[in-house]
This record gives sequence, structure tokens and C-alpha cells, in this order.
Amino acid sequence: MTKLVSKTKVWKKLGEHYKHIKDVKMREMFEYDEDRAKKFTIQLENLMLDYSKNRINERTMKHLFRLARDCQLEEMIKAMFRGDKINTTEKRAVLHVALRNRANTPIMVDGKDVMPQINEVFAKMRDFSEAVRLGKFKGHTGKKLTNIVNIGIGGSDLGPVMACEALKKYWAKDMKCYFISNIDGTACAEVLNNLDPETTLFIVSSKTFTTIETMTNARTCRKWLVDALGEHAVAKHFVAVSTNTKEVSKFGINPENMFEFWDFVGGRYSMWSAIGLSLALMVGMDNFEKMLDGAYAMDKHFAETDLEHNIPVILALIGIWYNNFFGIKRYGVIPYDQYLQYLPAYLQQLDMESNGKFVTKDGEVVNYSTGPVLFGGAGTNVQHSFFQLIHQGTDIVPVDFIIPAISHNEIGDHHEILVANVLAQGEALMKGKTVKEAAQGLTKAGKSKEEVKELKYFKSFSGNRPSNTILVKKVDPYTLGMLVAMYEHKVFVQGVIWNINSYDQMGVELGKQMALNILPELQGNAEGVSHDSSTANLIASIKKMRK
Ligand code: F6P
Repeated sequence: MTKLVSKTKVWKKLGEHYKHIKDVKMREMFEYDEDRAKKFTIQLENLMLDYSKNRINERTMKHLFRLARDCQLEEMIKAMFRGDKINTTEKRAVLHVALRNRANTPIMVDGKDVMPQINEVFAKMRDFSEAVRLGKFKGHTGKKLTNIVNIGIGGSDLGPVMACEALKKYWAKDMKCYFISNIDGTACAEVLNNLDPETTLFIVSSKTFTTIETMTNARTCRKWLVDALGEHAVAKHFVAVSTNTKEVSKFGINPENMFEFWDFVGGRYSMWSAIGLSLALMVGMDNFEKMLDGAYAMDKHFAETDLEHNIPVILALIGIWYNNFFGIKRYGVIPYDQYLQYLPAYLQQLDMESNGKFVTKDGEVVNYSTGPVLFGGAGTNVQHSFFQLIHQGTDIVPVDFIIPAISHNEIGDHHEILVANVLAQGEALMKGKTVKEAAQGLTKAGKSKEEVKELKYFKSFSGNRPSNTILVKKVDPYTLGMLVAMYEHKVFVQGVIWNINSYDQMGVELGKQMALNILPELQGNAEGVSHDSSTANLIASIKKMRK
């Protein structure tokens, strides 16, 4: 039996329903229904989702919940939390939720409870991070380690970068953290230039410990340290986070200085594991655990709440509604909080690496679109860059606005201005401005009849552009945990509905393999690798320019 969701009855029903709703204005829906905001708002502790500014009505949501049920979403949620091997291509369980299973109830994989090993690594992280923070674990020359450098890429970088920035207010005052990810030598050079080897601790973060960027960067940093302090310094200045003990030892890091994680934790879902060691060092293990507590609260909500009141489910279904019925294949995340500036980059990997797939779990090519292009940036900055297109461009771009009610830095009226802006953006996108209203505004501003005629179209806004608003009390460790877990589960739900495996990333392999073929050619010792004429010409031109 085919598992193409597009062949289900409810999919067809949604298609029919789309025809009725596509021209309905949200502005009118708000006017006709005083309770609209109340109906389409949902709250979990200090996180509130207002999804009323979407092109939906109660019937839309009813069909979408039916769709979720018909795709066995409830069973699939249970399967993930139970530790079933839902990563079908790699035959692995998907258990980032075990990392924040604060109730510590057993979760079995291959007949073994995974919780004891998780707890053991957390205990090791606590001991180590406290020892470094208190200056008990010192560098080779006896100095306190105050500069933390995480070397990793993708999921071994983006989570720690994003979370360290998000929780900057909680950093130990005398410590700083840095991230080296790109293979471009500039990434290494620019970090190392500012550092003193005696006070620097490197964390080599790599699930596989074979990723070329990370291993090359790690070797460069190792050489830099050894040149300054000698080979014996490595033990005090290098630790590793990986699933691959053998490679860690081969690299010259004592397995005692290794923090383990497991193949049931996907790279882009690993910031909750020891991959978050840089964060634990910067904010302390108590705060790290508060982040786990927040994620756990979201996990419980996701696993235990009916679909109709389930925040990640609702977000996911609205995404499907736009993607598959309106044909909108892009989506923006705009946090109005400077500390969350790297959240869009983090979510980009989470969403696009998870759901950028074209084959169902059963190996059938889909005939509907899957993961959208996700982009974003911090507000209000982005209002002064790409928001012109979001307001007046020909393409509709649904956005998530994220805003904390309270700032960590209450300076003058900065936060009020910030909040006023995010609320205004949502309202402006939804309402728009008709040509008539634009003309009236111009007249009121004293423009001549000719000027009004000339400018009224330029000054009009079609409106009816959707947004979600996610309001949180404050960006603290707990809230950050909730927010990230919310998006992880949203991605999961969409993967279930599209019937794709959200937990492998085979699409990144082809380019990696080809780079390995090209490398010896650039280094001048290649034999008989054939390329298309463009690639061959580019290789030749690069060599020529270097001469
Ligand atoms: O190239 C993609 C990828 O495999 C990501 O999924 C992963 O997060 C990243 O590379 C880094 O992998 P590793 O942690 O094994 O170095």
C-alpha cells in the first residue's frame, strides 16, 4: 500500500477546503469573530503561541488534526519516546528526548535501559565543568582555563553556538567561549590569534570523529598548543565529545578526557548531550539542567496533550497547510531578542537537514513538497533588510515571531520599542493597507491629487500575510529548552505526515565524496579524475591564479 499522504481522503478534503479559504481575508475573520485570538492561542507555562494570524478557520484545523491522526501521529510520538528504531534507514532509535528525561524512567534500546549511561555522562560533565569553573582543573602551566574553544561543525557546533549566545547573561564572568567550525583557515586563525595557550581549553566535538573540517581544525589547534607548551600539555588542554572512542584515542586524547554520546542521538539533536559541554562550562551545570527541565516540560506536553492543544503539532500542521496547499515553500523565524540571534541558523539545520527529503520511508518518490527553506534573523534588524519583500513582495512568507515579555537588559525604553515593533509587524502583515486607505493617508498627509494618484499603489499592502507569535516571559535556560524542543517536535510531526525519515542526512554525502576526489587534483597529484567542463575549467583556473 502506498504511503503517499497526497493519496489520502483528508488530503483531498484539505485541497477542496483550500479553494474556499484562499481568498478569505484574515482581517475580516478578525472583524467577524471577536474570540478569534482566544480560540487560536495556546499557553504552556510561560510560553504562549498565538496562531490566530494565519489563514485558517476552525474547519481548517479540524481537517489538519484529522490528517495528523490518519498519519498515525499519536502512535509515532509514542514510538519515538519508547525508543523504537524510527530512524529506519540507519536502523537507530531517536532519543534526544532521553537526554532530558528528567523523571529518569527507563527507556529501552535493544533491551537495555539507556538512562544510566546518560546520567553517568551528565555526572562527568558536572564534575568537569565545576572543576574548570572553580579553577581546580588547571592548564598545563597551572593557570586557570578561562577560554573555551569548541571545535565542531553542523550539529556539533550550531547548538552550542546558539545556546551559548542565548544564555550569555548566565556566563561565568571570567570566562569566554569561541567556536571554530569552518575549514577555512581564517576560522582557526581568527580565534587562535586572540588566545593564550596557557588558559585555553579545546573541546573537539564530533559525533563520528571523522568529519574532515573538525579533524583538520583540531589538528591545527593541537599543533598551535604543542608548539607553545609541548606535547605533554595536550592532556590538560584537549577534551573530546564523541561516540567514537577509537578515533578519539588515535587523535591522542585520553579516553578519560572523553565525554561520550550515542548513535541514538542525532547530530542536529545533540545540544542536550555532552555536545553541550561548552555551554555547561560557560553557564554551569545547574543552568544546563534547567535547560533540560524546560525541554522536558515541552516533551511531556507533546507526548501527553491531545493534538488539538498541542503546540508543536499545531505549528507543524500550519506549516503543512502553507507548504502543501498554498504552495509556499519558505518560512522565516524572527526572534526579537538579540540573545536569540543564532536561533534561525540553528533551526535551519534542524529543519532542512531533517526534512529536506524526496523519498518516503518506503522508498517511494513523493509527489508533494517536503521541508521548506528556512531563514531568519533577529528583529528589529531584519525589518531593515528583507522585510520589504515580506510586506510587499509577490511571494508570501509565513513567519514565526518570538518575543520575550521581559528583557535581560532593561535600558530606558529599548524593550518597549522592540515589543512595539514585533507586534506592529504581525498586525501590519495581517491587515495590510488597501489602495483606498493608502490614498486617504496620502491625502491626509497633504499630498496633491496627482501625487495621491501616482503613489497610492506603491503605498498599499495586500496584507493577509501570516505569522505566528511566540511569546515567552524571559529568555532563561528553562525557556530556551522549551523553545528548542518545541521546534524539534514540530519537525518530527511534519516528517511523520510527509512519511519521510527526518533522522538521516544522506544528501550531504555526495558533495563530501566529490570534494575528496578534487582535493588531490588541487594538490597537484591527481590521476584521471574526470569532471564536467565547468568543474575542470575552475580547477585549472584556480591553479593558474595561484602560480
Ligand atoms: O555533514 C552533515 C553532518 O553529518 C551533520 O549531520 C552533523 O551535525 C555534522 O555533519 C557534523 O558531524 P560530526 O559531529 O560527526 O562531526
